[in-house]
Amino acid sequence: MTAPSSYLRIDHITKRFGDTLAVNDVSLDIARGEIFALLGSSGCGKSTLLRVLSGFETPSLGRVWLDGKDVTDLPPYERPMNMMFQSYALFPHMNVWDNVAFGLRRDGVAKDELQHRVEEMLLLVQLQKFAKRSPHQLSGGQQQRVALARSLAKRPQLLMLDEPLGALDKKLREQTQVELVNIIKQVGVTCVMVTHDQDEAMTMADRIAVMSEGRFLQVGTPNEVYEYPNCRFVADFVGNVNLFDGEITECAPDHVVVRSASGDFLVGHGISAGVGMKACVALRPEKVALSLDDPKKTHNAMACVLEDWSYFGSHTSYSLRVEGNQRLKVSVTNTDREQDHENLKEGQRLWAHWEDNAMVVLTA
Ligand SMILES: Nc1ncnc2c1ncn2[C@@H]1O[C@H](COP(=O)(O)OP(=O)(O)OP(=O)(O)O)[C@@H](O)[C@H]1O
Ligand SMILES: [Mg+2]
Repeated sequence: MTAPSSYLRIDHITKRFGDTLAVNDVSLDIARGEIFALLGSSGCGKSTLLRVLSGFETPSLGRVWLDGKDVTDLPPYERPMNMMFQSYALFPHMNVWDNVAFGLRRDGVAKDELQHRVEEMLLLVQLQKFAKRSPHQLSGGQQQRVALARSLAKRPQLLMLDEPLGALDKKLREQTQVELVNIIKQVGVTCVMVTHDQDEAMTMADRIAVMSEGRFLQVGTPNEVYEYPNCRFVADFVGNVNLFDGEITECAPDHVVVRSASGDFLVGHGISAGVGMKACVALRPEKVALSLDDPKKTHNAMACVLEDWSYFGSHTSYSLRVEGNQRLKVSVTNTDREQDHENLKEGQRLWAHWEDNAMVVLTA
């Protein structure tokens, strides 16, 4: 998918460090105002790519374009950009106000204008009351907002965030994710963020690039990447998934049958593949229903044995064993408060079943 218009263009970027190919020929167009997430596991090249886009690293090959202009050879400070690093250190000896004012002072912004901008930023991140405090007198989330205010004070057109919420605990991180998106959207700044946390990418970004070994495996909206992963790695990396390896035994424009050691899957959409090809069926745990009785379906139903389950309040996760000795993960939302797990026993026989359109067939 190409962005509607290109504001930041990543044009065949490669970055080597000696023998390490940190970024391997990636291209991408990011639109003005978009929040774009680079998602991938540790060492896949996210920070390196962000640093190339920001001008802190020179690419080995390729160009970076900003608003139609080749900025590849411009140093960071000559780009209309601000970067918040993986470990965003606030200046500990300066209060909140001075932290936010720092970049503006360094740029010699006039006193009145500086005053105005800092107040504006503190209002934006809702920290007016904390202006005189030192960073160590703030919570992690508040420090995070100061760092963001400091990054936005110079009104960059492009904001680069490297693991912006990495220092926060889960609850605070979820809260701050929403706040951060609201602030970024309010300012209208284009944002490229790096994260290894898929939930963070899903909640915050308009589009995501899933990276592995320096390459983009898939670029799409959170919904596309989750519901229509284009390969095993993406299906597995983004969210929980059951993967069944098998062979295509039927291939029609509107359906595909994949035969696996656990049974036949009838998938309700066509793919460009042929009978006899190896394929993998991806089935998300929340798309599977469980029942005590045989649903009497000719396909997309499996007898299974309950191995284990965990109650999470909002949902319960079941781990089952199906034919072919494969594990099946099922997640059921606890819509009923009186949901009774007392009757369940390890080793109990159950039926798992799902719809024809619940699966994706992957050939890569
Ligand atoms: N300055 C450098 N010199 C040599 N190798 C480097 C340098 N910077 C990064 N690398 C290597 O490039 C690869 C990508 O690193 P990068 O920091 O981009 O990963 P990352 O995706 O940001 O990982 P993390 O999630 O752990 O921050 C790694 O193998 C890393 O060791
Ligand atoms: Mg990194």
